[in-house]
Amino acid sequence: MEITREKALDYVRPFLKTRRYEHTVRVTDQAVDLAQRFGADTEKAEVASALHDYAKYKPLDLMKRWIETDRRLSKDLLDYHHELWHGPVGAYMLEQEIGLADPEILSAISSHTTGKKHMSLLDKIVFLADYIEPGRDFPGVDEVREIAETNLDGACALALKNTIVFLVSKERTVYPDTFHAYNDLI
Ligand SMILES: [Fe+2]
Ligand SMILES: [Fe+2]
Repeated sequence: MEITREKALDYVRPFLKTRRYEHTVRVTDQAVDLAQRFGADTEKAEVASALHDYAKYKPLDLMKRWIETDRRLSKDLLDYHHELWHGPVGAYMLEQEIGLADPEILSAISSHTTGKKHMSLLDKIVFLADYIEPGRDFPGVDEVREIAETNLDGACALALKNTIVFLVSKERTVYPDTFHAYNDLI
């Protein structure tokens, strides 16, 4: 693979606020740890996680235009909270800007916020690393960390459940891919 952890982190750094960059570095370390634990490709895990929040602060109108014009991007994203856009849009921006072509890495970046149906090992690792990195302190995260010591699917299922329960408790919408991911793992 031509892109390294260092190159990936250097690429995203100017586009992220300091605390988001620091989160990115922690997610990258966490993802390598999980990849070693569960037998995934550590280099892909670190590149995908280094790049995962690339589009976090891209202008909403720019992301909206990407969703409207790239036929691979699901139009239903526009009906859901814009917080969900940076994963799928970021993946295709990186494909165009730096020639990121590995479909496994693109998928892991794309699905890191919502999960999706039939998540791959790498998808699960980046999703979970983003959820449990040491800077996270929301309710329930310690239980997910504990399960993640031994059981990747169990940890992802609980993280998805917590996300769904939280969104429902706030009367917010839940993106269908999150239900698909949960249903797959439960
Ligand atoms: Fe994100
Ligand atoms: Fe993140």
